[in-house]
Amino acid sequence: MTSHGNQEVAAIVVAAGSGVRLGHESPKAAIEIAGIPMVTRATQAMLSGGANKVIVVAPEAWTERFGQFFTHYVDRVRVIAGGLLRQDSVRLGLAHIGSAEIVLVHDAARPLVPPFIVDRVIEAVREGAPAVIPVIPQVDSLRRIRRSWTVAVDRSTFLRVQTPQGFDAQILRQAHAHAGDKEYTDDATMCEAIDVPVMTVPGDSLAFKITEPMDLVLAEVIARGEA
Ligand code: CTP
Ligand code: MG
Repeated sequence: MTSHGNQEVAAIVVAAGSGVRLGHESPKAAIEIAGIPMVTRATQAMLSGGANKVIVVAPEAWTERFGQFFTHYVDRVRVIAGGLLRQDSVRLGLAHIGSAEIVLVHDAARPLVPPFIVDRVIEAVREGAPAVIPVIPQVDSLRRIRRSWTVAVDRSTFLRVQTPQGFDAQILRQAHAHAGDKEYTDDATMCEAIDVPVMTVPGDSLAFKITEPMDLVLAEVIARGEA
């Protein structure tokens, strides 16, 4: 018999980026949205959505400061130092998930992800999918660049990928070991490189990524309940 319901879930919240496109002095994940740092919001969403513990991967010079965000969660949240690329930060986080059978990888830059999305991803992995990504439709028209001109493409054949992405922990370890120094944009793509099928579940527009200054304005308004 399987013990689906008892599998331990660890979430890696990657928060070690600097946020160049946002242009603030402090790291992006430390920026507050309606008084609560992005990384704290993202971590709380993982715990509310069903993660048993969270590894927060912080910028190296900021691990102590980030640790202070989680003084009330010492038993369930651990802060470690990240690396140069996002995938380095995930790999460093993976070394701390212990015996968890399911692992989520989530961007701290998606602080407003609803817990039901986290739960949905976990459930799909529990039911046997080795790699799961939340996706939403592409709303803008898309064009492919062809030298000096552009050609319309069918947007219904494209999906936008969000996080948390969920994995069988052993498979994600294998994917990272195989990836080595080759760069991948996300962990699902890394799994695909070792022929692991990637399953999609519906995402949610609230899981949007804060990348540019306008995204921060939107997040602030939503978090204050003004939207
Ligand atoms: N990230 C990370 N380690 C890195 C780079 C990125 O943990 N070396 C994390 C970021 O903190 C973020 C997520 O990966 O939560 C998605 O990356 P992105 O939105 O690109 O954030 P930044 O890299 O911080 O932003 P920018 O690219 O504008 O500098
Ligand atoms: Mg980046």
